[in-house]
Amino acid sequence: MRVVSTSSLPIDLVAQIGAAFPGARVEVPAGHTGLPADLADADAVICLLHDRIDAALFARAPHLRVVANCAVGIDNIDLAAAVAAGCAIANTPDVLTEATAELAFVLALAVARRVGEGERLVRSGAWTGWALDQLLGVSLTGKLAGIVGMGRIGQAMARRCRSFGMTVVYADPHEVTRWERRSLDDLFATADLISLHCPLTDETRHVVDRRRLARCRSSAILVNTARGACVDEAALCDALEAGRLFGAGLDVYQGEPRISPRLLECPRLVLAPHIGSATTEARTQMAQLCADAVIAVLSGRTPSNLVRSRG
Ligand code: GLV
Repeated sequence: MRVVSTSSLPIDLVAQIGAAFPGARVEVPAGHTGLPADLADADAVICLLHDRIDAALFARAPHLRVVANCAVGIDNIDLAAAVAAGCAIANTPDVLTEATAELAFVLALAVARRVGEGERLVRSGAWTGWALDQLLGVSLTGKLAGIVGMGRIGQAMARRCRSFGMTVVYADPHEVTRWERRSLDDLFATADLISLHCPLTDETRHVVDRRRLARCRSSAILVNTARGACVDEAALCDALEAGRLFGAGLDVYQGEPRISPRLLECPRLVLAPHIGSATTEARTQMAQLCADAVIAVLSGRTPSNLVRSRG
């Protein structure tokens, strides 16, 4: 039996797999090496969100029975190809929900209160002292939060918004009780804070586009902790440069880790390096869920975090 991880993990995978399957070969690199060229006899892979899992991968790994994605988003995985290859796919829901919602709220507050600009000012040595009109932000208290994608993380963000005295509305193809649903267009036109928590699919690619940005309130804040391609970055830069939004906080980028040079120059933009789930607690539990899924599938059991194909 051969189990391959594409990255180092904050758990002892070798010990865990060895205890479950004595004699198994377990490969855990230092850092992230990506998928090895030779997967001919691999039974299980633990991968990261930038490892592409597609038909070509399954073709060179004919014995693969499970891929555990150390992320909740699965847009790096071709589910139809996995079904065709008879390979189970697992991800890491729940354990990163609160961490990701925390980061989304951090970005919302950082944009609203211009924390990035303030930090740069202090570090530059150009700060001359307190002034009545310095770096005036907006308050989130009492404002309207629009959550795009009301799954686990969206609801965790909604709870944080409500605790700040915000009214919460959401847009999602599925009805979620206790919260008020709006159309996407209506949400973009009315919300003071728009926070993306949707998976990246054909429907949500560029869900933040030029047309919707043009309808936003000029005092609105956009936060994206979902996937970079949910936002048309060129349209966002145009909107920020024209002052058609108050600001935006991004944790994810189209084509990351490459960042569009325009984003780096844009005013009122707070940028984070895809750290939504980056707490020690969440990352350890994510790795553990991956190990559990591998052990379950290779033992003939169904893991709790099995991704079910919609197709
Ligand atoms: C992070 O982006 C994840 O999908 O877990």
